[in-house]
Amino acid sequence: MRHPWGVSDHEPDPRPGGRATSGDGLERLQRRDTRLDSYVDRYAARTHGMTASAIRALFAVANRPEVVSLAGGMPNISDLPLDVVGGALHDLVLTDGRRAMQYGSGQGEPVLREAICEVMRLEGISAHPDDITVTVGSQQGLDLVTRLFCDPGDVVLCEAPSYVGALGVFRAYQTEVVHVAMDEHGLVPSALAEALVALQAAGKKAKFLYTIPNFQNPAGISQTLERRTEILRVAERGDLLVVEDNPYGLLGFDGDPVPAMRSLDAERVVYLGSFSKTFAPGFRVGWVLAPHAVREKLVLAQESATLCPPTFSQFAVAAYLHQHDWRGQIKVFREMYRERRDAMLAGLADHMPAGTSWTVPAGGFFVWVTLPPGLDSHAMLPRAVTARVAYVPGTGFYADGLGSRHMRLSYCFPTPERIIEGTRRLGEVLQYEADVLATFGTAIDGPGAPGDRWYESPGTNQR
Ligand SMILES: Cc1ncc(COP(=O)(O)O)c(C=O)c1O
Repeated sequence: MRHPWGVSDHEPDPRPGGRATSGDGLERLQRRDTRLDSYVDRYAARTHGMTASAIRALFAVANRPEVVSLAGGMPNISDLPLDVVGGALHDLVLTDGRRAMQYGSGQGEPVLREAICEVMRLEGISAHPDDITVTVGSQQGLDLVTRLFCDPGDVVLCEAPSYVGALGVFRAYQTEVVHVAMDEHGLVPSALAEALVALQAAGKKAKFLYTIPNFQNPAGISQTLERRTEILRVAERGDLLVVEDNPYGLLGFDGDPVPAMRSLDAERVVYLGSFSKTFAPGFRVGWVLAPHAVREKLVLAQESATLCPPTFSQFAVAAYLHQHDWRGQIKVFREMYRERRDAMLAGLADHMPAGTSWTVPAGGFFVWVTLPPGLDSHAMLPRAVTARVAYVPGTGFYADGLGSRHMRLSYCFPTPERIIEGTRRLGEVLQYEADVLATFGTAIDGPGAPGDRWYESPGTNQR
């Protein structure tokens, strides 16, 4: 007889803790389970989509000092005044340490939620501290919001391409991701309207639109104010909730921030914020600003996930905001990132082969590169790493396997000199691939990029 899990009565159960009968212990010891993961039959269905992302697989190699990593999106906190942070933490422990090291509220500490309202005012948001739930980075905000709204099979709309960490969450909750095209001003409202019509025709309704309006990860593109208004209008007509993820909004290089979508519609937009890029990611403090009813559910979800977000981190961030000129610090970060962005753009202009194009970000960390037709960023990655440069292949940013003609380059972390050297090495790899393609009519190893949903960039940033 065979059990439902596929182990016969006459075989020892090979799983850890599996049923043992007399005499089979030795047999079991002798018999090596050849599966890499002997727990594989036990996992919940929701884990099936949990595979290591392209970014994670890359980190091990890309972190070697000889490799110029244009892959990871790690914030560059080398300009953070550690004496100021250290002083604030020292004072916190001495004056309020017992409270700061105790369990706290599931919603997050009031002192921090008040300070968060002040931060959000810079992007035109007027909010009450009661409507904020503190999270473990905005990543946990994404997780909680998806947990609240999505059952397996539910549809989530998001930009094409989109943030790999969000796609991972949507996969973990077994949602169906439907991508919506972008152009140089971000998500295209008419494409969103078409997606809503197509879903309706299929008898489906999207649970929400996930969008990153500022300096999008990975495309580096921002929505204009007009674009945000149009998207919200389409969302209103389609009765669609919008999840606005905004970790980079204060890191713009030109002028004042564009008003957040949440500032334009408080009832339709759930807003995700983070201190990871404007202060430091290690504290793991983010937040969700949500309409009141959603906020109540969020706090319950937060309590079941963590009991409370880390109290010490919250007091630490609040102390930093009170004691330091955080607005001035963000300006320092902005200038540092601008210098790196400029180095990246100069390096690309100097070293990319003909037929390559790229976006010109006005803030944030990322440039999105479109390769000449026929080249495959996924297939060529090992050769790039051998040439000591790393990037993230475009395929990581699509739920449906498209994107192989693209790559994401990050300029946030390396020095300007290293960035330029990285683009030089990358240019050599791309030129070689293009030459092979021209000679043999096919890219090495690659099936050729499928037509993916990315617009052809306008002229100025092309070679
Ligand atoms: C678009 C976007 N959302 C969310 C996150 C998660 O940030 P954190 O959890 O550190 O706040 C990131 C991190 O890179 C991101 O790029």
